[in-house]
Amino acid sequence: MSRMSARPEAAQLLAHWRLRAVVVLGVGAAVAGVTAVLVASGGPPSPVTHLYYVTVVLAALLWGPRIGALSGAVCGALAEPGALALLDRFGDLGPGWLVRAGAMMLVGGVCGSLTRSLLSRVEELEALNEETILAFVRAIDARDPYTARHSEKVAGYAVALARELRLPPADCERIHLAGMLHDVGKLALERSVLHKPGPLSDEEWQLVREHPAQSAHIIGGVTRFARYVPGARHHHERYDGRGYPDGLAGEAIPLDARILAVADAYDAMTSDRSYRPALGHAEALERLQSDAGIQFDPACVAAFAAMDLHDRLALAEPPVPLPELGAISDAA
Ligand SMILES: [Fe+2]
Repeated sequence: MSRMSARPEAAQLLAHWRLRAVVVLGVGAAVAGVTAVLVASGGPPSPVTHLYYVTVVLAALLWGPRIGALSGAVCGALAEPGALALLDRFGDLGPGWLVRAGAMMLVGGVCGSLTRSLLSRVEELEALNEETILAFVRAIDARDPYTARHSEKVAGYAVALARELRLPPADCERIHLAGMLHDVGKLALERSVLHKPGPLSDEEWQLVREHPAQSAHIIGGVTRFARYVPGARHHHERYDGRGYPDGLAGEAIPLDARILAVADAYDAMTSDRSYRPALGHAEALERLQSDAGIQFDPACVAAFAAMDLHDRLALAEPPVPLPELGAISDAA
């Protein structure tokens, strides 16, 4: 399966702001300006020296201990020697600035190291999160090889649709992972029901209809997975309120689930079945559109139809080949 985008939000934020060197430089320049004004007005530079720590800490957070220590040295030089030199009062410089510069370097180095170590711990936890989800998916695949890849493909379509709807990256990631986990409740289904070649009895259908609630129950047992529960529990709700398990209608259905419903149905229609070959994209899309406002959220169907066809087809191909499978049963 594709490597999931599980970079921690804090790390993503830092990576984003690393590109904003202008922020750090701007803060540094502002502090230098304040210092110069204070020195020019007769005040000593030392009362504002601590403001340079803002720049030092920012640099350390964004770029790590080396840059943090280096920025400490630069700020230490700017705080007093630089300001006094600019004002042609370099002779007033005392030895105390060396201690302050050393302290700034130390703060930069320590803050940078602590940030690195914290981020690395967060990344380890996120990797564990990802591996746990993969273990769930592998368990589904092992239990039901006929629908192996279904979760990955649904997750791929769903995240593409979420992006088409211009949802924030954190929402897209949540929807992706909810797609991976949405059918985990099938683990609770009897194999005789899961693999039954013929039509299901009413009682068996009732069991199948319990799988979204089972998915929510299993996922909800992991605190960190609570955000995937709405998508998993409600992915078989219908826009007209005739779905299951709760019969929610319209926008009362969580957006994650409305997106997953479209992705789930599209993958089911475009996958081979023992009783029929896969439908083509055009026919599957036509069926989605004819059920827009009935089974599916019309906005989600419209966005799905607007997605780039090439991207959609690329998503349907798993990047890591899995063993060849036989006929694929309907996504329940
Ligand atoms: Fe399902």
